Amino acid sequence: MSGYFLHESSYIDADVEIGQGTKIWHFCHIQSGAEIGENCSFGQNVNISNNVKIGDGVKVQNNVSIYEGVELEDYVFCGPSMVFTNDLTPRAKYPKGHEGYKKTLLKEGATIGANATVVCGHTIGRWAMVAAGAVVTKDVPDYALMAGVPAKQIGWVCECGDVLSDSLICKKCGKKYKVQQEILVRMNGDF
Ligand SMILES: CC(C)(COP(=O)(O)OP(=O)(O)OC[C@H]1O[C@@H](n2cnc3c(N)ncnc32)[C@H](O)[C@@H]1OP(=O)(O)O)[C@@H](O)C(=O)NCCC(=O)NCCS
Ligand SMILES: [Zn+2]
Repeated sequence: MSGYFLHESSYIDADVEIGQGTKIWHFCHIQSGAEIGENCSFGQNVNISNNVKIGDGVKVQNNVSIYEGVELEDYVFCGPSMVFTNDLTPRAKYPKGHEGYKKTLLKEGATIGANATVVCGHTIGRWAMVAAGAVVTKDVPDYALMAGVPAKQIGWVCECGDVLSDSLICKKCGKKYKVQQEILVRMNGDF
């Protein structure tokens, strides 16, 4: 493996794949079987557990643990000190092991705000945005802006990150959207 940056204070276990241009900053631990794409950035004190898959262009801020069962697609953003989970009903005396973990998928471009928690077993849609401090307890639709405990949808967000007004035309970048059967879709998109 070459072409990525690893700070000398961080550890990488055996059988890890890391793509070109990825940067791993201070005090991180990448566990075996992890697959990490290109041009990602992992801030201080990030743990990536066994067999976790991470796409390209992903940014993880300080103090985040990405547990087994979590998958991050391309361009996911994890805010500082946000929390993933992988066991819905944990007990110290009755550990469930790998089979008991519930999967969590963050689709392309999804953002999780600082200090938010994602309860396991859910999918966060493409370009969705979870507010700081929210607790996600359900699947999140594409482009949805979610806030609160438990997180509720309070709006829609453009791919560029601007919160959309009722016109569903982004004031910042001009992308246009429409709601189709309660799902936001891009009108002038190229995907
Ligand atoms: C959710 C968010 C995107 C909303 O931004 P915004 O559109 O400018 O929001 P506003 O400040 O206009 O607030 C809109 C409403 O949402 C509420 N709100 C905003 N952020 C909230 C949050 N994190 N949790 C709960 N409610 C929130 C506001 O109180 C306001 O409610 P009101 O209409 O009843 O007064 C933003 O507040 C946020 O949490 N961003 C995440 C920042 C972050 O974690 N970055 C990490 C990397 S640095
Ligand atoms: Zn936009």
